[in-house]
Amino acid sequence: MTLRVVRSADGVLARRAAGLHLRALGYSSFITLFGEEFLFELYRSLLEDGLGFLLAAEEGDRLEGFILGSLEGSRLNQAIFRRPLRFGLLMLPTMLGRPSTIFHALQIALYGKRADRVGDPSAKAELVVIAVEESTRSKGLGARLVAELERVFRESGVSRYKVTCHEDMTRANAFYRKNGFELRGAFPLAGFVWNLYTKDVRSPPLTGGLDLGPL
Ligand SMILES: CC(C)(COP(=O)(O)OP(=O)(O)OC[C@H]1O[C@@H](n2cnc3c(N)ncnc32)[C@H](O)[C@@H]1OP(=O)(O)O)[C@@H](O)C(=O)NCCC(=O)NCCS
Repeated sequence: MTLRVVRSADGVLARRAAGLHLRALGYSSFITLFGEEFLFELYRSLLEDGLGFLLAAEEGDRLEGFILGSLEGSRLNQAIFRRPLRFGLLMLPTMLGRPSTIFHALQIALYGKRADRVGDPSAKAELVVIAVEESTRSKGLGARLVAELERVFRESGVSRYKVTCHEDMTRANAFYRKNGFELRGAFPLAGFVWNLYTKDVRSPPLTGGLDLGPL
């Protein structure tokens, strides 16, 4: 399995990430309501605009898991605002079929401000999405992706980052707790209660066994 960081436009990877996002989170995530083409455009645009980056865990040409990370999570929706026609057309069928999504989409646009109120406004960097193929879960890939994300954040000077997830996603909440995230609060948004976690990016432990002699 190889791990790579992708920070620029990559349509093939964006397509694979959209598919995995839909398979892993289709049962619960609001934005999956708008469909795979919407997710593809979102991932493609975020990479193109440099608003987010992808950590991709790949086995050959198969995407086994990924993290969408951002140095400033509250700016992600700019990718949509910059392309109103393209995203508007992709969202329209869902909005016409389920008018409540219009209201929820407006709320999601204000998500950054809401998260800052319960969390720590200094934690601007964000783990936005993490997903691992079902057949690969519980083998440590999720934890490896988080460790790699922290290496990238450390290199960018980030000292603390945040993640949110629905309160009722029991296993995802367990995953974050197991990986050292601290629950900072919860807030209602777009029909769900969201837990907000933060985690400090620590320096890597010294390896190589510093021999201090018979102290
Ligand atoms: C959360 C997720 C990324 C963890 O990936 P992973 O490779 O299984 O992670 P690890 O192997 O490092 O850790 C496994 C632990 O994660 C937790 N976990 C969370 N969701 C899980 C799931 N659906 N299946 C298995 N384990 C899950 C469990 O605590 C598990 O511990 P266990 O194996 O002792 O039961 C993965 O389960 C997933 O893609 N879930 C669906 C998408 C999701 O919920 N994303 C988070 C919200 S954005």
